[in-house]
Amino acid sequence: MFAYEFEKRLLVILKSNRHRYLDEEMLMREFSLSEAMDPSTESSQDLDRAIEVLRLQGYEIDGDQTGGWTLVNLPDTINYLEIESSLKTTFLGKCLFAYRIIGSTNEAARQLAETGAPDGTLLVAEEQRKGRGRFGGSWYSPSGGGIWASLILRPGIRPAQLGSLPMLAALSICLAVEEHTGLKPQIKWPNDLYLNGKKLAGVLCEAGMRGDELKYVVLGFGINVNIERFPPELSFSATSLVLARAERKIYRVGLLAAILDKLEEGYFKFLTDGFASFLPRVQVRDFLRNRRIKVQLAGGEIVDGVSRGIDENGALLLETRAESHLNTLAQGHVIQF
Ligand code: BTN
Repeated sequence: MFAYEFEKRLLVILKSNRHRYLDEEMLMREFSLSEAMDPSTESSQDLDRAIEVLRLQGYEIDGDQTGGWTLVNLPDTINYLEIESSLKTTFLGKCLFAYRIIGSTNEAARQLAETGAPDGTLLVAEEQRKGRGRFGGSWYSPSGGGIWASLILRPGIRPAQLGSLPMLAALSICLAVEEHTGLKPQIKWPNDLYLNGKKLAGVLCEAGMRGDELKYVVLGFGINVNIERFPPELSFSATSLVLARAERKIYRVGLLAAILDKLEEGYFKFLTDGFASFLPRVQVRDFLRNRRIKVQLAGGEIVDGVSRGIDENGALLLETRAESHLNTLAQGHVIQF
C-alpha cells in the first residue's frame, strides 16, 4: 500500500475511534476490515512512521504505556488528507483539489470543468485572493477564516430547472451549521445565509453552456467561519460563526463534510423530484418574509413591496403597493431590506 493511502486509512480509523486507545493489533484488524490488505506487507515500523507523519502534519496523537494510540486534536487546515479522510459522501468530492492559496475556486472550477473534470469535483482553498461574489462583487476570503469551496456538477437538466439549486445549497449549509454549532442561520432569498441580521455565507452558481444546453454548473459557496474581525467596510454587514458563538474556533473540515453530506442527499432528491419538497424547510428559515424590500431586476428596474415568501420553484413572492397582488420574481438582487 502506498504511504499516503496507509496514512489516510490510519487517520480514518483514528477519527472514527475518538476517545479510545487502539493498539497495534486493533489498528491492524481495523485496517484489514476497512479494505482488503495483506497484513504481511505492513509492519509496526510502517505504523510508527505513519503516526509520526500525521503528527508532523499537526495531528495530536497520544500514545499510552500499553502501546495504544488515540487522536486528541485535529489541525484546522484545509488540505487534501484532512478533507479526504473526513468526507462521507459517495459522489461529491470524490475528485478533490485542495489549494493553499488560489484566485477564486469558482474560476478554477470553471477551467477544470471546461477540460472535462468529472461530475462532483470539489475545489477548496485555505485562502482566495480574488474571491468572487454575486453581481460582480468580490468575496473576502482570508486564510483560515472560512470555507471557500466550489463544486462542479453536471446535472443533465434544462437550464430553466437550475434556478433553485443555489437555494438548495443554502439550505444544506443552514442544516449543517445548525447541527454543528446549534446556531440558526436564515436564508435570505435567493441564496444568502444571514445570522443575527448580518451576512454569514453566500452562494455563487455559474452555468457553463453549449448553445442552449447546460454543460456544467459551478456551485461555489463561501462561509465565514473563524473570522474574528472584518475589514471596516464589511464589519456592519458581515458576521462569522465564531463571532456569533463567541467561543473557540470551529473545525472547518468537519463542517464542510457535514455540508457536503446534506447537499449530496438533497441533490439526488432535487434531480428526481425537483425543489418543491425542500420548500417547507426553506420557508421556516425565510429571512425576508413580511419585510418591506427593494429588488433590482435583471433589466435594472427596481421594484419595491413586501416579501410574502418563496414558492415551490424558489421564486420570491412580492406584494407590491401598486397592484395589490403577488408578483413572482424568479431572479433579482435584493438591494434594500
Ligand atoms: C455572494 O456574493 O453572496 C456569493 C459569494 C460566493 C463566494 C464563494 S467563496 C468560494 C467560491 N469562489 C468564489 O470566487 N466565490 C465563491
